[in-house]
Amino acid sequence: MAATSSYDRLKELKEFDESKIGVKGLSDSGIKTIPDFFKHPPQTLPDLKSKFSQANTNIPIIDLSNVNSPDHHQKIVNQIKEAAKSWGFFQVINHGIPISVLDETIQAIKAFHEQPYEIKSKYYNRDESNGVTYASNNDLYRSEAACWLDSLKAQMGPKPLDIELLPEICRKEVVEWDLSATKVAETVMELLGEGLGLEPGKFKELTFSQTKYVVGHIYPYCPQPDLTMGITSHTDPGVVTVLLQNQIQGLQVKHEDRWLEVKPALGGLIINVGDFLQIVSNGEYKSVEHRVVANSCKEPRISIVEFFNLSKWKGDGYYGPLPELLSAEKPAIYRNFTTQEFLENFYSKGLDSKSLIQKITIRHE
Ligand code: OGA
Ligand code: NI
Repeated sequence: MAATSSYDRLKELKEFDESKIGVKGLSDSGIKTIPDFFKHPPQTLPDLKSKFSQANTNIPIIDLSNVNSPDHHQKIVNQIKEAAKSWGFFQVINHGIPISVLDETIQAIKAFHEQPYEIKSKYYNRDESNGVTYASNNDLYRSEAACWLDSLKAQMGPKPLDIELLPEICRKEVVEWDLSATKVAETVMELLGEGLGLEPGKFKELTFSQTKYVVGHIYPYCPQPDLTMGITSHTDPGVVTVLLQNQIQGLQVKHEDRWLEVKPALGGLIINVGDFLQIVSNGEYKSVEHRVVANSCKEPRISIVEFFNLSKWKGDGYYGPLPELLSAEKPAIYRNFTTQEFLENFYSKGLDSKSLIQKITIRHE
């Protein structure tokens, strides 16, 4: 019985994948019920009704204007440090990227996903080897239940991307976005490093912003948003993530065992700490679970996420808490891990638990 049903599921997944229509195509077709393979078990579904009764809390908002002025610098370092420790998530405003660039980037990703099937389906592929993929659910064949989103993904570094591989409709914007988001990521990393008491330029020297992926997600209208997810609960594996989104809400962050809606600040960027940074900071900064609820608005939710991670591993390819941060009072709470372990963690699961962090924890704080 089980074998038959799992066979059917795989067949359905393949049919959907090979049709290349994506969730956007399903949504546009006007279906009123979603295919079974998108349905999540009730225990992992959010209670959509409760979101309106949630306390009016938001992740910290940090104003980066005057970040280089001696009068403001230390205050901003303290704010970022506090946010990364207690929330793992924050928004930055006055980050220096003009609103017009934010808008153009969102519009370009939206325009990509809204192209007619004949044009867009040509890009549909999961083969990561050339640097650009476009598909529905990056983990379609690995996750237990599919999610209501499609994603265009481009590896922007450490090796420069052959930009001709980017769809023409958003090529210029993705390239420009990478430059802008990288600047913000580097600024934030510098402040995070300073918050740990590290030498200036340490994270840059350690190549923490050099491996990077831009992912343009679309969360189309979902006719049964209480049965599926936009993205299931997960933590991001890398150093930091920079997220730009349109004004449709849906991102939720776990804080003190409760799920809180992120209310995007106008002109702001959402930043979060990844597993790698939690480990190298010896648990000082937190990589926090987050998820996206399925979109119940007619207007699609668009997010552009850039993941930053290191390009240069130590020695034969391992990493662990930074020695500068360790002392007799603050011993390492994680053991070193290898590149292999990091990648296995990344690819073995669907987007689910913090398995790498659990695996390498040697003592609890
Ligand atoms: C992710 C992610 C959130 C969003 O891609 O890892 O958490 O709002 N995305 O798209
Ligand atoms: Ni994420």
